[in-house]
Amino acid sequence: MLRRLHPEQPDSFAFTAANQQWAEAQITKYPEGRQASAVIPLLWRAQEQEGWLSRPAIESVADMLGMAYIRVLEVASFYFMFQLQPVGSVAHIQVCGTTSCMICGAEDLITVCKEKIAVKPHELSADGKLSWEEVECLGSCTNAPMAQIGKDYYEDLTAESFGRILDDLVAGKVPVPGPQNGRYAAEPLKGLSSLNGYEAGKPQYNASVELATDLGDTVKRIDGTEVPILTPWLGKDGKAEASKAAPKPPKAPNPAKPAVKQAEEAKAKEEQPETLSEARGGQPDDLKLLKGVGPKLEETLNELGFYHYDQIAKWTPEQVAWVDARLKFKGRIERDGWIEQAGKLAAGEETEFAKRAKEDGTYED
Ligand code: FES
Repeated sequence: MLRRLHPEQPDSFAFTAANQQWAEAQITKYPEGRQASAVIPLLWRAQEQEGWLSRPAIESVADMLGMAYIRVLEVASFYFMFQLQPVGSVAHIQVCGTTSCMICGAEDLITVCKEKIAVKPHELSADGKLSWEEVECLGSCTNAPMAQIGKDYYEDLTAESFGRILDDLVAGKVPVPGPQNGRYAAEPLKGLSSLNGYEAGKPQYNASVELATDLGDTVKRIDGTEVPILTPWLGKDGKAEASKAAPKPPKAPNPAKPAVKQAEEAKAKEEQPETLSEARGGQPDDLKLLKGVGPKLEETLNELGFYHYDQIAKWTPEQVAWVDARLKFKGRIERDGWIEQAGKLAAGEETEFAKRAKEDGTYED
């Protein structure tokens, strides 16, 4: 199966404040120069927040980790756990189609998906609430057939019980996960043949189901507010304890992205560039002729007080950091070379992009 970026992409991505804090905390797990090790947790968090990984999300994670975009795209497109297309707003259903599940009725479950969600995997249901796909063994073969929904396993399914679960999800309920045939966990179908004493006083649900029911809403998008920001490796108070951690090894040179490095340093001292309350002579430049600026970004730039190429051409790294912070995502100004492009356009020269855009009217976004 080809795994590509979806043709329709949002303009930008930003972690929620709490998720940003969580992501920054994850990065501190790794020694200086090894921040790229946090790529999978950060991509996963972005997916938990949005449901899928858009190009801006992948680029945002790359910027946070000082990685080339292609390196992060390679990770996102390699692992099937990452969704590269929009998923259902309520849940994405992953039906196991491997041997045990297939023998025990996975095909019936897939038929239910086709009937209740969409004929093809990765397509949204008509109301946009659900999507589905078939996946390889999820390690719950004893309780076949099964499906993963959100963070939970729904096991010992039949077409009827699975259909009910999907209906409940659409109705805004979160059905109790775990075995759906009365089994407690993965004991023999005919009941326990040993350790019978365990029956007395056992909790209502097995540990996984108990955790899921404690959490309550396990198909909710993660925005960071539902779990504490855990940085046990830094102690209870991350900042205070950080200095007690083992001394950092000497900083390894990071050949990856000097521009990002420069931007990071500049961020510490953001500086507001000169802005205008309106375009000079009421004649704004067409900022959409800058590669990377579409109609929405042009509007935002105008709102910030930028109407002319020469304004942008003069931005210092500190001023780029100021603008970057207000565009809600990082790195685009440098990545697309706005300053160099704006310098040329301000001097009356042409850029390849501007020429093409004027010819066929194709702008970004
Ligand atoms: S075969 Fe379905 S969980 Fe293993």
